[in-house]
Amino acid sequence: MKTLQLDLGDRGYPIYIGSDLLDCGALYAKHVRGRQVVLVSDSTVSALYGRRVAGALSDFQPVSITFAAGESSKTLDTYARLADELIDRRCDRGVTLVALGGGVVGDITGFLAATYHRGVDFIQVPTSLLAQVDSSVGGKTGVNRPGGKNLLGAFYQPRCVLADTGALRTLPRRELVAGVAEVIKYGLIADVEFLSWVEQHIDALLAGDDSALQHAVYHSCRIKADVVAADEREAGRRALLNLGHTFGHAIEAATGYSEWLHGEAVGLGMVMAAQLSCRMGKLDGDSVHRIVSLIERAGLPVRLPASIGTADLLRLMAGDKKVLDGRQRLVVLDAVGQGVVVEGVSQGLLSEVIDGCREGN
Ligand code: NAD
Ligand code: GLY
Repeated sequence: MKTLQLDLGDRGYPIYIGSDLLDCGALYAKHVRGRQVVLVSDSTVSALYGRRVAGALSDFQPVSITFAAGESSKTLDTYARLADELIDRRCDRGVTLVALGGGVVGDITGFLAATYHRGVDFIQVPTSLLAQVDSSVGGKTGVNRPGGKNLLGAFYQPRCVLADTGALRTLPRRELVAGVAEVIKYGLIADVEFLSWVEQHIDALLAGDDSALQHAVYHSCRIKADVVAADEREAGRRALLNLGHTFGHAIEAATGYSEWLHGEAVGLGMVMAAQLSCRMGKLDGDSVHRIVSLIERAGLPVRLPASIGTADLLRLMAGDKKVLDGRQRLVVLDAVGQGVVVEGVSQGLLSEVIDGCREGN
């Protein structure tokens, strides 16, 4: 097992990475301060791992609460149902919530922990690659609204993150590939050496090789922990973690959040961000080619289908959470391994970039 520390003073916490951590009762117990534990999971993950984790927590006689798997559960309704369960079971301020699942479980359980009795402890036990490399670390929690993703939420840090790469064995391949998009993102924004490692080990990652996965999770979390420690509330540097996300969120929204997985949309979004960087004179053609071929080798989409209109994407991008005082902010690359936030990119240039990434171009 390897351990990283997210350095946030008295809100800092360890990130444990290894295989077969789900059963390590002592690891959870170190971070449970009271006597009540509630295990929150989705239907799929609960069926696969709920019993094992409940067994590891048996000293606390945990209660398990489950909701239907999928992004469509990330709502205020689910949040209210979970909160009512805690109230009905007379959970007090000493309760610790354990979020066992992908990013949906982690985000909604974190939001519940942030608000239940004005804040209770929670532990992240991410089981998807995306959750292990991204959503479980850094304290962004929340739920979706019909008007957009993650529009209600809070920054609220867990007591620890326990990432068991052994759990990824059951993850559907499409979900694994979507998680690889975020792994590539870290290399692109902050660490060219790590990006080269990903290029050399992409086949092992996609084959589910445990040692490659542990390496990828460790270095992704290392980069994310550094960024979050420097800028917890996204006043500046943390925005770099959104490389490809402004394009990606617009693609997800344009397709009703039902066709594209988040990581797939981010994969194509990073292709668009690379093309934009090139058109802004920041990145050369060889670097763009390098980025696009890695994203393609990962099995992620690199072309925009004709069914998604440019005007729709531009409109949706204008509603992004990174828009500040009416100014759109985008993450581009000064070089491979060096992300930067820019403002004032013209709609004309964005439109050219989007059209340049269309199928057939
Ligand atoms: P998810 O939680 O919906 O999980 C994807 C699917 O995989 C689900 O059906 C789930 O049941 C299943 N699954 C999870 N682990 C499994 C396993 N080990 N074996 C078999 N099936 C498994 O989605 P996700 O991709 O993990 O996360 C996406 C969510 O994360 C989005 O809501 C996104 O907004 C959020 N997110 C949050 C942050 C953050 O910083 N908080 C960052 C990125 C994404
Ligand atoms: N996933 C972006 C962030 O945590 O800031």
